[in-house]
Parts: sequence; C-alpha cells; structure tokens
Amino acid sequence: MKALIVANWKMNPATWRTAKRLFEATKEAADYAKSVTVVVAPPALYVRELRSLSRGKRITFALQNVHYGSTGAYTGEISCAQAKDAGILYAIIGHAERREMGETDDDTRKKVAAALAADITPILCVGETTRSANGEYFNTVKEQLRTGLADVAPAKLGRVIITYEPLWTIGADKAMSPRDMHEMAIFIRKTVVEMRGENGMSTKILYGGSVDESNAGEMLRRGDVHGLLVGRASEDGDKFMALMNAIHNA
Ligand code: PGA
Repeated sequence: MKALIVANWKMNPATWRTAKRLFEATKEAADYAKSVTVVVAPPALYVRELRSLSRGKRITFALQNVHYGSTGAYTGEISCAQAKDAGILYAIIGHAERREMGETDDDTRKKVAAALAADITPILCVGETTRSANGEYFNTVKEQLRTGLADVAPAKLGRVIITYEPLWTIGADKAMSPRDMHEMAIFIRKTVVEMRGENGMSTKILYGGSVDESNAGEMLRRGDVHGLLVGRASEDGDKFMALMNAIHNA
C-alpha cells in the first residue's frame, strides 16, 4: 500500500514566488518517492496555478478548510463545489488550529457531509489539546468522531480519512511514539466500527504532529497508519526531500 503524505503548508510561504519554488522541490521529491502519494494543501489562493504547474498526476491538492454551503453570503469562505471546480480532491476539516479558532464538532459534521456530496475526500482531524493520565482524551476523540461522522452514510466511510493530530504534538519538538499511535489507531477504528458498522474498517487513518525524516519511517511501520499529515517538514524543499527519502527507503 502506498503511504499518503498530506503536505499542509498552512499560511506559508509568504509570496507566490517562494510558493512556486517550494512546489518545484515538492514535485521533485514526489517524483523520486514513487511509493508515496503526495497531497499538497497550499493556501487556497495558490492552488489553481500550482495545479497548472503540476503536470501529470503525481501530486493532487487539498484545501486547508472548506465551508459547508454551496454558494451564498459567506464572506471569506470557499465551498466544496468551488474546490471541486478547481480540481481539488481533498479537504482538511477540523484541523486543531482551526478548532482553536472556534470550529466546532458540529461544523466538522456539516463540512464532512458537504465534502462527500461534492466528491471531495474529507480529511477529518481529531485529537485532544492536552493529555492527562486518566485517559480522558479517548472520550474527546470519540466525541469528535461521533459528531464529525454523524452524517456519513456507512457506504461512504471508505471515502473518509481520519487524521489523529493532537494539539500537543503540533509544532512541538517531538512526535508521538508509534506505539501510542498504534493504540490510538486501534481505538479510532474500533470506535468507527462500533458507531457506524463494518465499513469503518475501510476508513484510512493518518498521524500528524511534528513529523520529519527522523520519525516518519518508524511511524509508518509501527504506528498502524496509512500516512502522515506534515506541517513544517513540508514547508521547506530540502526538508521535504529528506522526509520523502526517509519514507521511500524505510
Ligand atoms: P507540524 O504540523 O508538522 O509542523 O507539527 C502538523 C500540522 O499541524 O499539520
């Protein structure tokens, strides 16, 4: 199975000129690591032009956020239909940084449903903000999954990607251990199957948070995940090449 790497550029880089350069490096890394499927999530403003530079099908695109409406009076928002029309195939939904800005579980529910209706693959991010020893974080994740997936028909569960990305590992010094991720992946799969039926077995699970070339191979081998969501290590051409190199040769 090919590992899925989602390169979340967040609100970077600062100029179109740098974005083009980063994209050239990203393409080169993707061409080299043929065992990896690369999805780039740049600032929405850059997507159409990057797509025209992408030639061929090695790289596809995601939006970092979408709105659940189709068109209308929603200043500053982008709909799934507009994303689809721009050739975008994925949407990140409920990223921890957006949840910090006020996005709720109920918002993610509407966005996941809108994405599927527009034939966009939702990448639903879940994860606690902090971890305590009493295991309360399992309840947080369960609730995020329960609400976020509430409007997904069981037959569509195979089209949904769940990213476990707790806030405490994002922009941190260290990723979570593959062993802890393995435990969480089992929990996520069990929760989805219990709530929505056997089709939940086909939902893909990714890990995100401080992924780089030093930990990616091990996470893919031992973390029970189909891929990784990468922030900082995708925002620099050399770092992304090192990451793809590590994954391809793992
Ligand atoms: P990071 O970010 O890889 O820089 O920790 C991950 C993310 O938030 O997508």
